[in-house]
Amino acid sequence: MCLTVGILTGGGDCPGLNAVIRAVVRRVRSLGYATTGIMEGWRGLLENKMERLDLERVSGIVYRGGTILRTSRTNPLKRPDGLSTIKTNLQKNAIDALVAIGGDDTMGVADRLFQDGVAVVGIPKTIDNDLSGTDYCFGFDTAVNIATEAIDRLHTTAEAHNRVMVVEVMGRDTGWIAVASGMAGGADMILIPEQPVDLDQLCAVLRKRHGRGKYFSIVVVAEGVQLPSAPEGSPGPVQQDAVVDEFGHARLGGVGQALARVVESRTGFETRVVTLGHLQRGGNPTAFDRILGTRFGVHAANLIDRQEFGKMVALRGTQIVAVPLAEATREPRRVDPELYATASVFFG
Ligand code: F6P
Repeated sequence: MCLTVGILTGGGDCPGLNAVIRAVVRRVRSLGYATTGIMEGWRGLLENKMERLDLERVSGIVYRGGTILRTSRTNPLKRPDGLSTIKTNLQKNAIDALVAIGGDDTMGVADRLFQDGVAVVGIPKTIDNDLSGTDYCFGFDTAVNIATEAIDRLHTTAEAHNRVMVVEVMGRDTGWIAVASGMAGGADMILIPEQPVDLDQLCAVLRKRHGRGKYFSIVVVAEGVQLPSAPEGSPGPVQQDAVVDEFGHARLGGVGQALARVVESRTGFETRVVTLGHLQRGGNPTAFDRILGTRFGVHAANLIDRQEFGKMVALRGTQIVAVPLAEATREPRRVDPELYATASVFFG
């Protein structure tokens, strides 16, 4: 039987997605099956938007950022007949099995489809690295390298001007990118949602640096941090606006500006802000992400060959394993206090 495997990428894009797509297509086809591209995440299955996805199409894409299948934050569970429409379109296109590449939102829909009888396998993706069930998501290493390179650059201009540079990084509700890039970039303070923010301690660290002739500092803050100086009863992290996506996520952003105002007014030190935003999601993947993505893709194809559905590939230590999709949709994986304690040795 020539089984056909449909592949989709959902949620925020990240470098490494094309390496995964290439690996799934190459392995699935080496097993004698066919492959079809589903465009723009779950939207492609709701709107029946498929594209040719063969060896020629995936040739030469291992190094390219973004996703040749494009993506969206479409949530079929928000549509009255979303699941039935997906199942109808899977049948229409003779797709026997699905590979869903995405974060917790995408894995949640994939698990629901599996519960509904669809043969699906998940691959964990997010620069936030906050997916339960896997030690690492591809995309994270590239984002950390981009943020680290930015922090390295900011050191020279901060020192030239005796300034405090506040660097806001992504990560949604966790601080993995902040703690990793802050450590790698030699930040003087790192603020993450998992740790209480003490503005007095922050300002004391900055003043202490001044006292020993270090008239510049780098402060890395994760976008999901809620400042204690936030107005009483504020709704949580600083949001760009009131818009939420179809999975209920607000658009975070702005805590860097708020923090810079507090630092400058409390210390008198000239302060500037850099918000890295989607730079952390752009460009070519690192070798680490290409390799991890490739390993994930091949393992996912092998799960399909063994008809082991309802699972997500995962990295445990250095091994690729498979965990139930439901595991990926639990609480976000938060920064280990031990890692933050190590980072804090270098504050100030
Ligand atoms: O989940 C990845 C991520 O980059 C988060 O770090 C960030 O908060 C969000 O996506 C941004 O979403 P969008 O690209 O839809 O603005």
